[in-house]
Amino acid sequence: NWTTGNIVEEQVERIRAQVGTSRVICGLSGGVDSAVAAALVQRAVGDQLTCVFVDHGLLREGEAEQVERDFVAATGVKLHVANEQERFLSALSGVTDPETKRKIIGREFIRAFEAAEKAVLAEAAAEGEQVKFLVQGTLYPDVVESGGGEGAANIKSHHNVGGLPEDLQFELVEPLRTLFKDEVRAVGAQLGLPAEIVGRQPFPGPGLGIRIIGEVTEDRLALLRRADAIARAELTAAGLDNEVWQMPVVLLADVRSVGVQGDGRTYGHPIVLRPVSSEDAMTADWSRLPSDLLARISNRITNEVDGVNRGVLDVTSKPPGTIEWE
Ligand code: XMP
Repeated sequence: NWTTGNIVEEQVERIRAQVGTSRVICGLSGGVDSAVAAALVQRAVGDQLTCVFVDHGLLREGEAEQVERDFVAATGVKLHVANEQERFLSALSGVTDPETKRKIIGREFIRAFEAAEKAVLAEAAAEGEQVKFLVQGTLYPDVVESGGGEGAANIKSHHNVGGLPEDLQFELVEPLRTLFKDEVRAVGAQLGLPAEIVGRQPFPGPGLGIRIIGEVTEDRLALLRRADAIARAELTAAGLDNEVWQMPVVLLADVRSVGVQGDGRTYGHPIVLRPVSSEDAMTADWSRLPSDLLARISNRITNEVDGVNRGVLDVTSKPPGTIEWE
């Protein structure tokens, strides 16, 4: 009969036994799994751990700060930040095909991570130390599905930090291997991680890059980030975070429609709201959110986000739709 305290103690012991006095590296994505895995390793071996955060510029509003500021404050972890927004924007320039976007983001992510990894290895070497271990936030369901990822690998090429370097220069440390998602969240809370990280809904590795239908540009990212933040804030304010599995907000950047605002005609983009209910993301249904909440989200986004003049609700189940639009 496991309590969260037991899990933490047991994993801390195991990590110490496995790692000894070697250095450890861990990639952070902004998500709950990598954060909790890193926090456990930090608890076990302190400054032997260096975390790497590749900021690809495709996260939502506030998420990079949650990693760089709040996670560091909560854990005291040593963090190496790679600001790679430019790299991803230029690699994605002119690209509209969803699979091509996914492949580019996955490829650039590995390159950026490897560059950051080199810097961490060099730093350790300068201190006469060797980095021998890589932390992965693999959960029990991932182990069971083995290679299945989140289950849709054959339909879309999935990318996440958990699927990173196959580089066998490192031995893996996988402190979440026996845990389910709800246990991981409980361990994260026990370790004092920020609520935004512990309670974060699933978010795809390619991030907002696959929620802009059309080319990904800096302006479009800024616009989508604002719209997404408004939608999330209203869902939370309505007390309905637990009613939805996740709620992608999608910018139809290649579509424009005519509207009217103030005295003028507008020709702007639609924003799609995709709230879904699900157990495991393999199947999903669209969430029946209260219509006054939907109206509030649509009103606020069309009023507050320049360039958006229409709010659209996605009422497709999965199948036949997928949760994400790309
Ligand atoms: P779909 O769109 O296939 O998504 O119904 C199923 C679940 O997987 C998430 N998703 C991803 N997660 N890397 C991830 O880590 C990815 O490349 C990726 N693509 C989709 C999606 O948000 C949903 O929870």
